[in-house]
Amino acid sequence: MLSITVNGKRVEVAKEATLLDAARLAGADVPTLCYLKETGALTSCMICVVKDVATGKLLPSCAAHVVDGMAIVTEDDEIREARRAVLSMLLNEHAGDCEAPCSLTCPAGLDIPRMLRYIAAGDADAAARLARRDLVFPATLGRVCSAPCERVCRRGQYDAPIGIRAAHASLPINSLQADVSGSGKTAAVVGAGLAGLAAAFTIVRLGHACHVYEKRLRACESLRARSELPREILDAEIETIRAAGVVIHLETDVAPESLLQRYDVAIAACNEHHESNPRIFDAEEESMYVRAVANGKRAAFEADAFLRKRPVQSAKPFNSSLGALAADELPHYAVERLRKAAASDVDRCLHCDCLKRVSCKLRQYATEYGLGPRIKRTIPRPFVKPIERSDAVVFEPGKCIKCGICVALTRAAGVRPGMTIAGRGFDACVRPALGATLAEGLGSAAEECVRACPTAALAFRDSEETS
Ligand code: SF4
Ligand code: SF4
Ligand code: FES
Repeated sequence: MLSITVNGKRVEVAKEATLLDAARLAGADVPTLCYLKETGALTSCMICVVKDVATGKLLPSCAAHVVDGMAIVTEDDEIREARRAVLSMLLNEHAGDCEAPCSLTCPAGLDIPRMLRYIAAGDADAAARLARRDLVFPATLGRVCSAPCERVCRRGQYDAPIGIRAAHASLPINSLQADVSGSGKTAAVVGAGLAGLAAAFTIVRLGHACHVYEKRLRACESLRARSELPREILDAEIETIRAAGVVIHLETDVAPESLLQRYDVAIAACNEHHESNPRIFDAEEESMYVRAVANGKRAAFEADAFLRKRPVQSAKPFNSSLGALAADELPHYAVERLRKAAASDVDRCLHCDCLKRVSCKLRQYATEYGLGPRIKRTIPRPFVKPIERSDAVVFEPGKCIKCGICVALTRAAGVRPGMTIAGRGFDACVRPALGATLAEGLGSAAEECVRACPTAALAFRDSEETS
C-alpha cells in the first residue's frame, strides 16, 4: 500500500492507484470529462488536474500515479483557473443550445419545446400541467402576452415562428394540486394581480399555506379592461389557484408589515411602499404581464428559501447558445424536421433544446466553475455541423469534445469499423470510421457510448430530460 495526503487528509491506496483514485477515496470531488473506468485514462481533456504540493505542478489526476508519501490538493485558485481555461476552450467551439431560445426569452421560463412535444403527441393534459406550473396563467397570457418568445423562435429563420402563445392559450384549464407535503409554514400575499396570485400559487405548490389580501372588489382588476381576454377565462384560471389551496380575501386593505404577526412571511405584490424587513419579499406588478408572473414566482422561491433556511438558488445554469444561424448553417440545422411534413403548427417546432440538458457534464461543470450564463465565442461562424441519426441515436458533431470515449468503447467491443478520430489538430473530429453510417460506427456499443458520452454529442433520440 502507498500513503498519500489529499487536502490534508491521509489515505492508503493500492500500488497502481491514480491520484484520481486517491482523491475519490478521500472524498474529494474532482471533475472528469474523458475518463471512464472501462477505458482507462485517455488524457484528452485535462479538466481533472490536481496540484502536487511538493513541486506546485498541476497533474492530470486520471493518469498520474500515486508516489508514496506525496501530498496533493484538489481545489485552489490556480486549479480552478486551469479548469475554467479547459472549459472555455471546449465551449468556444461547442455548437449547441442548452435551452431553446424561446424558453430562455420567456420571462416566466416556460419549457416551450417540451410543451409543444406534449401537444404534438396528443397529451394536452401533460402540456397543460407544465404550462400551469411555469406560467400560472397560461390561458390568460395566451391572450394578452406580447410573446417575446416568438420573436426569437428559430423556425422563424426558415419560414414563420411557431404560434407558441396560441399553443398555450388553447390548453385545457386544469387545476394543479400542490405535490409536496405541507411545511407547516404560512405566507400572506398583499395584492391579487398576476404577480400576487402567481406568488401565492407557487408558494402553495412549494408546500406552504397562503392567504392573499386584495383591497379591490375583484382579483386581477386591471386585466379586466382588456377586450381580447374573456372574463370567464380569467375567472377560470383564478379558480384553479383557489383549487390549489390559496385563500383570497377581497376588499381587505392591509399592509404587509401588519401581517407578519400572523404569518411567517409576507409577499408585497401591491406596488406600494412598505418598511424594509427580511420577512417581506417584493413581487412587482408590471405592464408586461408575463414579467409580473415571473416576479411573483421569483418572490415565492425567495420566500420558500427563507422559510426552509436554504440559500436562494439565484445562479442560472450555464447556457451554451447558438444565437441566430448564419445563412450557410441553415441547411445543416434540423434537416430531418424540415423535411418532414408537419401535421400541425406545433409539429413544426425544431426542438432546439438539448437532449442532455440536465445530464451533460460539460454544462454542469461550466455552471460549477462560473462560466455562465453566456460565453463569448472567438471562432468565426459557421460552426453548426450536419447531424447524423440512427434509429435510436442522434450524433451532433458540433457538441463533441473529442474525448475519445466512444472510439475506445467501440474498439473494446470489437465493433467494425467503429468510431474514429479523423483529421489532425483543430480539424480533428470524431465520426464513424471509413465512411460508415452512425449505426455501423456505434454497432453493439451504441447504448454504452450514449450513456458514457459526457455531452449530448451522442444522445438517445427519445431522451426527455427535465430539471
Ligand atoms: S407567449 Fe409569453 S408567456 Fe407564452 S411562452 Fe411566450 S413569452 Fe412566455
Ligand atoms: S423551433 Fe421550437 S424549440 Fe426552436 S425556438 Fe421555435 S419553438 Fe423554440
Ligand atoms: S484528462 Fe483526466 S478526465 Fe480528461
